[in-house]
Amino acid sequence: MSSLSKPSIFYSSSVEETLTIASLLVKSIAGRGVISLEGPLGAGKTHFVKGVARALEIQEEVTSPTFTLLQIYGLENNRLYHFDFYRFNEESEALDLGLEDYFSEYLTLIEWGNKFPSLLPPETIRVIIEPLENGARMITWNS
Ligand SMILES: Nc1ncnc2c1ncn2[C@@H]1O[C@H](COP(=O)(O)OP(=O)(O)OP(=O)(O)O)[C@@H](O)[C@H]1O
Ligand SMILES: [Mg+2]
Repeated sequence: MSSLSKPSIFYSSSVEETLTIASLLVKSIAGRGVISLEGPLGAGKTHFVKGVARALEIQEEVTSPTFTLLQIYGLENNRLYHFDFYRFNEESEALDLGLEDYFSEYLTLIEWGNKFPSLLPPETIRVIIEPLENGARMITWNS
């Protein structure tokens, strides 16, 4: 794949729009890969994961894995791994959880993935969610 791939840029003015934008990413990567979700507290990273889960027709409610560190949703063949690096103090804590075991088969989303960029596989899609002054969000990724 070309390293000069075009960025995808979206504007979201509601939670619902963020869910829809997330579903566009899921479609474009056929529901497989590693996605790092980046942006300040309350940007909408967890809501983006909710949109991914909805697109995959996962019924369970997606919540922030801040305290559990990893949440697994879905059934066989349709799994979603959801990490949040916010509470990790050092890389070894993520590695001790077996982080790399979750990079191969399904879809893995990592909130605050930019906290430990060296843990992310090179093909990681980095989704940046930027709150704007008017309350909307600019959402961009390269893929
Ligand atoms: N366009 C939008 N897209 C997503 N969330 C929005 C939008 N507009 C307002 N919000 C609100 O912003 C908040 C986003 O919360 P969310 O938990 O998804 O953020 P987060 O980036 O995961 O935060 P944290 O860094 O604490 O994990 C929610 O309260 C949601 O209602
Ligand atoms: Mg969150």
